[in-house]
Amino acid sequence: MALAKNFLVSLLFALIATHVAVAQVGGLLSGLLGPIHIDGVLFCSLNGQIDIINGTTTPVFPNALVQLRCGAGNVVSSTTTNGSGVFSLVLDPLQNILSSLLSNCSLVVTTPLSTCNASLPSIGLLQSPLQLVGKTLVGLLSTVNLGATGFQLLPNLI
Ligand SMILES: *[C@@H]1O[C@H](CO)[C@@H](O)[C@H](O)[C@H]1NC(C)=O
Ligand SMILES: *[C@@H]1O[C@H](CO)[C@@H](O)[C@H](O)[C@H]1NC(C)=O
Ligand SMILES: *[C@@H]1O[C@H](CO)[C@@H](O)[C@H](O)[C@H]1NC(C)=O
Ligand SMILES: *[C@@H]1O[C@H](CO)[C@@H](O)[C@H](O)[C@H]1NC(C)=O
Repeated sequence: MALAKNFLVSLLFALIATHVAVAQVGGLLSGLLGPIHIDGVLFCSLNGQIDIINGTTTPVFPNALVQLRCGAGNVVSSTTTNGSGVFSLVLDPLQNILSSLLSNCSLVVTTPLSTCNASLPSIGLLQSPLQLVGKTLVGLLSTVNLGATGFQLLPNLI
């Protein structure tokens, strides 16, 4: 009886040790293998953000084409906001280096603001650099989450 109990206790310790080892390997590989997510909500305003003016909230910007542009303007990825103004891009971490995404890429909304509100400009595009929002652990993979730092209407951007 005591022998069986001892065996169970050692087995338990062995299992715990294995878990720790796996977690450490996961930590080493994180950032290398986890996908990079770029998410956000786009609003129908000059800065793409929500404005709360006397209790009225800015509507979202649905069906807007959002591009990830890098370097001299190469389109690396693109998506469309859904009915709630939500956009979401998933990038392969092996083809996209985090530091160069942050330093050399930006989000560009190619659908003119006049599409969601006729009083807003039809010329110029919203653009925002990227920032690191956080990392989430999915299984052994650490997912890197990026978001817009803040959109701005650039009148000369096409
Ligand atoms: C908000 O409401 C107050 C009081 O009615 C008014 O004085 C103010 O101008 C309003 N602000 C905006 C941005 O509409
Ligand atoms: C950023 O973009 C410029 C212009 O395309 C390019 O020359 C430079 O190598 C890029 N830098 C990084 C870190 O990707
Ligand atoms: C838009 O996408 C978000 C996130 O996936 C989801 O929660 C929301 O319900 C979607 N809205 C519509 C109208 O599909
Ligand atoms: C449309 O844009 C104008 C100018 O910014 C603003 O005053 C108005 O409230 C907007 N309309 C809606 C429905 O958001």
